[in-house]
Amino acid sequence: MRVTMIGSGYVGLVSGACFADFGHEVTCVDLDQAKIDGLKRGVMPIFEPGLDDLVARNVEAGRLTFTTELAPAVKDAAVVFIAVGTPSRRGDGHADLTYVYEAARQIGQAVNGYTVIVDKSTVPVGTGDEVDRILREANPSADVSVASNPEFLREGSAIGDFKRPDRIVVGVEDDRAKDVMEELYRPLYLNVAPLVFTGRRTAELIKYAANAFLATKITFINEIADLCEKVGANVQEVARGIGLDNRIGSKFLHAGPGFGGSCFPKDTRALVRTGRDYGAPIKIVEMVEEVNEARKLAMAERIIAASGGDVSGKRIAVLGLAFKPNTDDMREAPSLAIVPALEKAGATVAAFDPEAMEQAKPLLPNVVYAEDAYSAIKDADALVILTEWDQFRALDLARVKSTLKSPVVVDLRNVYRPDDMAQRGFTYSGIGAAG
Ligand SMILES: NC(=O)c1ccc[n+]([C@@H]2O[C@H](COP(=O)([O-])OP(=O)(O)OC[C@H]3O[C@@H](n4cnc5c(N)ncnc54)[C@H](O)[C@@H]3O)[C@@H](O)[C@H]2O)c1
Repeated sequence: MRVTMIGSGYVGLVSGACFADFGHEVTCVDLDQAKIDGLKRGVMPIFEPGLDDLVARNVEAGRLTFTTELAPAVKDAAVVFIAVGTPSRRGDGHADLTYVYEAARQIGQAVNGYTVIVDKSTVPVGTGDEVDRILREANPSADVSVASNPEFLREGSAIGDFKRPDRIVVGVEDDRAKDVMEELYRPLYLNVAPLVFTGRRTAELIKYAANAFLATKITFINEIADLCEKVGANVQEVARGIGLDNRIGSKFLHAGPGFGGSCFPKDTRALVRTGRDYGAPIKIVEMVEEVNEARKLAMAERIIAASGGDVSGKRIAVLGLAFKPNTDDMREAPSLAIVPALEKAGATVAAFDPEAMEQAKPLLPNVVYAEDAYSAIKDADALVILTEWDQFRALDLARVKSTLKSPVVVDLRNVYRPDDMAQRGFTYSGIGAAG
């Protein structure tokens, strides 16, 4: 099948490369000339494990091409995906649909013959209806169906998630579109990934409900962690104790510095706005947003307290800046709240992240960027583990101790064991265990 992806960011590029790998003929389109030029030369615009090989293999096989020219790429396609960004709108937290609607208008002008236009971007309920209207306004004789196919891949394990999904959700309003989508996903369906067909509005809501639920789970365990610290309990054991219950499940029960990333913050905000707009406020998610924002700043206070109550003139080493390991994505990373708060309190922050430093530099311009973990730690008054990259799980602790000015470790990801760290002479604090 001929498939066109509008938007070649995380979602568009990964999905496009995976569809090509299934044997479809895929064109990835992006407005960003530099991104497309880079892709043509085999340079990935993002860090995602395995992506460069996957792209190279499919380009070589002639199934994957890149272009900035939307119209010719849309003209011959059977399926056109919209995979552009839907960031938070400044000021009110609604999803900004400018890119989606602009893409729809351009697709409408270019479309030729029966085409299924599929929204893969995360969009509020009813966006499919508006996309349909825009397409028909741009081209009254267009023979199109509009479907919704939200994406659930996770950055850092995006290819595996796309190829072996827990489920594929497809919202359609007619059987013609359903048949095309079934054919498109047939290679995956054979791998027994459940293909869930539903209405377009329901599919749109499923995506927000899923993200809001996961964000709630994280926030729940974070608050339980705070309680653990007060009452002398251990949050990791609580998480295991509840997670083994199949009704609860063990995933997303790791207490930490609060969620960030390209999806959870903006998607919880957008769901809250939709709930209010329709007179059905989702109060639990409103609270999740509030608690999560406050938590990031509380983490800075925790670091200051661990450093003796005052960080003015002190050097704080931060390991990990990306919002999670195996990505260079800095969007709404907790580091963007924690590091400036430390700097405001007078600290100099020295940081190292294996992949995200180039992305971080314009966002955190006052940070001293180090070449590796040990250079960041050198002469620091405290070490903070902020993102649990694998390489921070196996630090040479004797070297860490002798490199630090004072042996203070604040482990916001519970990578190390408190008793072990105490035995090695560190003043250690993790999350959710009595100190
Ligand atoms: N990143 C994730 O892990 C993830 C996971 C699931 C869903 N999503 C959703 O997928 C959507 C895309 O997210 P992303 O992280 O891939 O965004 P991104 O910012 O990485 O990529 C979007 C791309 O679209 C391009 N673009 C915008 N308008 C265009 C147009 N008219 N024509 C061609 N290209 C255009 C931009 O230049 C950019 O390269 C969002 O709605 C997001 O919420 C993201």
